[in-house]
Amino acid sequence: MSLFLGLMSGTSLDGVDAVAVQWARDDAPAMQVHGHVHHAFDARLRDRLLALNAAQPNELEEGAAAAIALARAYADAARDLLSRSGLRHDEVRAIGAHGQTVRHCPKAEGGGFSVQLLNGAVLAEACGIDVVCDLRSRDLAAGGQGAPLVPAFHADSFARAGEARAVLNLGGIANVTLLHADGRIGGFDTGPANVLLDAWAGVHRGVPYDDDGRWAASGRVDAPLLQQMLSEPYFRRPPPKSTGRDLFRFDWLQRQLDTLGRAPAAADVQATLAELTARSVADALLHHLPDARSLWVCGGGAHNAHLMARLAAALPNWQVQTTDALGLPPQQVEAVAFAWLAREFVERRPANRPDVTGAKGWRLLGCLYPA
Ligand SMILES: Nc1ncnc2c1ncn2[C@@H]1O[C@H](COP(=O)(O)OP(=O)(O)OP(=O)(O)O)[C@@H](O)[C@H]1O
Ligand SMILES: [Mg+2]
Repeated sequence: MSLFLGLMSGTSLDGVDAVAVQWARDDAPAMQVHGHVHHAFDARLRDRLLALNAAQPNELEEGAAAAIALARAYADAARDLLSRSGLRHDEVRAIGAHGQTVRHCPKAEGGGFSVQLLNGAVLAEACGIDVVCDLRSRDLAAGGQGAPLVPAFHADSFARAGEARAVLNLGGIANVTLLHADGRIGGFDTGPANVLLDAWAGVHRGVPYDDDGRWAASGRVDAPLLQQMLSEPYFRRPPPKSTGRDLFRFDWLQRQLDTLGRAPAAADVQATLAELTARSVADALLHHLPDARSLWVCGGGAHNAHLMARLAAALPNWQVQTTDALGLPPQQVEAVAFAWLAREFVERRPANRPDVTGAKGWRLLGCLYPA
């Protein structure tokens, strides 16, 4: 039996995606997704988690309490998924649970760390299923970035010998996986995706996100602002590299606007942010995987028609499509990757990719809370 659940909530802070995945064998990529649910965070949980992304008074206590609240939200999603899919908890071998990143500091003095809030004990207690979580720490302890972790799964499932391919996840942050024709793998965070688009749309339109990128499409790209934003040193840094709200948050955008010294129309800023994502992704792909012509896109940003169109425009001669074309809907890919990471943990197979994260070797990822 090799049924796993994957529970993922990313930097966009939109909610939790839960998937149930059955692998035909424990050591081969063929799989079937038996169900997917998305539970939006309630506003209070979202606000608490968002606030914890920056230093605040009594954050240890607040973090511990939020980790319990998040575990309960994860458990609700997992139980809802099981009942909708007609599955029993005792059929599931393990849950792979990401938790909520509130700090990502891979280069911290004294040792890199990345904090994913989640009370794994509460989740195991609520579901009666083994929980594998804290999936990033071991790679960081081995000197890696602890991120991105999904390229290993992308390589296992989507690589084809002799063909250079790229996979792009447009979550809060954008991350690419480079599948070279000769079998080498690369991957890194290219920079911001939805995190800034959502923030700007929230402030100026009072919406959680710019549906289909229609507002961005109504604006004009402000070329000087785009150039200035692209001069952010992160974009030029060579991999391995990873980032998050630690760098790309509203203050970053505010600083860019302050430096610009004038106030473009709000819709033009949105258009420029979409262009920033498209350009930073395209620049990274053209530089690091120049012989590829195929890009598969996943994550919520794959539903943003304007962003997808700008991406296609920035990658002329490439075929840009969503992971639907690979048989996996965009909103499921990250959650399936965390189910896959749980499978690798259960099978005691190291699942970091030192060639992606920069760790000094292969490591078993995760920490187990038995049922
Ligand atoms: N129809 C849509 N139009 C525009 N944007 C959308 C649409 N649907 C989803 N999105 C964007 O996708 C985001 C959610 O994407 P996703 O869940 O992949 O990100 P995430 O939670 O940060 O995940 P991760 O970090 O795992 O990649 C939303 O916040 C929103 O910005
Ligand atoms: Mg999400």
